[in-house]
Amino acid sequence: MQNIILIGPPGAGKGTLAKILSEKYDIPHISTGSLLRAEVRKGTQLGKHIEKRLKDGVLMTNDELEPLLIKRLQQDDIKNGTLLDGFPRALDQIELTDRVLSGIDLVIYITVPREEILMRMSGRSNCSTCGAIYNKHKFPSKIEGVCDKCGGSLYVREEDSEEVVLERLKIYKEVTEPVVDYYRQFDYFVELDGRKGSETLLEIIENMLKRKAK
Ligand code: AP5
Ligand code: MG
Repeated sequence: MQNIILIGPPGAGKGTLAKILSEKYDIPHISTGSLLRAEVRKGTQLGKHIEKRLKDGVLMTNDELEPLLIKRLQQDDIKNGTLLDGFPRALDQIELTDRVLSGIDLVIYITVPREEILMRMSGRSNCSTCGAIYNKHKFPSKIEGVCDKCGGSLYVREEDSEEVVLERLKIYKEVTEPVVDYYRQFDYFVELDGRKGSETLLEIIENMLKRKAK
């Protein structure tokens, strides 16, 4: 059983790393951003409300997010633990995290300089079918607009405009950095330079998990 939390600014590579870890350790990847976008696609009343907030780059309230997260955590595949991507990201979400997870094995904080974030977000696209993440500057798909893994069509998230990314970064600094500071006190906290390749990041994480298991 492994419970891993991924924290970092928008565009740090949380989703990209989570997908790799999820496959390697067979732990379900739960991205709160993806849960919210799935609700938007359902077209529910809540989804319409969420859509507006996502476009503006502002955080959801706990009342909006909690039921979606709890419902996801109650599904059968959670037996092996979970990889939480993008949660908690406000101090008042720490209590909920402790309530829903049976302990924390690792908190991975990914850092990336602001200029790199802006470059990454200007080139990101996502697969509408399997959620694979691409970047036209660094990791382009073989055929433009088509997912290499499943053949699904690629789309650009509406909130990836520079203006909204800057707003998300501002909120990140004010609301999420205090969460990072809270987790720093624990020995399960690790800070990683997100500019390193995923193989290097994976090696560091593997060593941390091995050390913990001893
Ligand atoms: P969410 O979907 O979590 O967005 P985010 O935190 O802004 O992060 P992103 O998904 O944009 O970036 P990422 O770190 O996953 O990077 P990625 O791997 O894609 O949340 C969206 C919204 O939902 C929030 O704004 C908020 O409104 C709401 N929300 C979510 N959780 C919430 C919560 N707990 N409370 C309240 N509201 C909440 O990579 C980015 C790009 O970089 C890609 O193009 C990728 O190919 C590239 N890349 C990745 N790794 C590398 C690398 N090592 N080198 C070079 N390029 C790389
Ligand atoms: Mg993501």
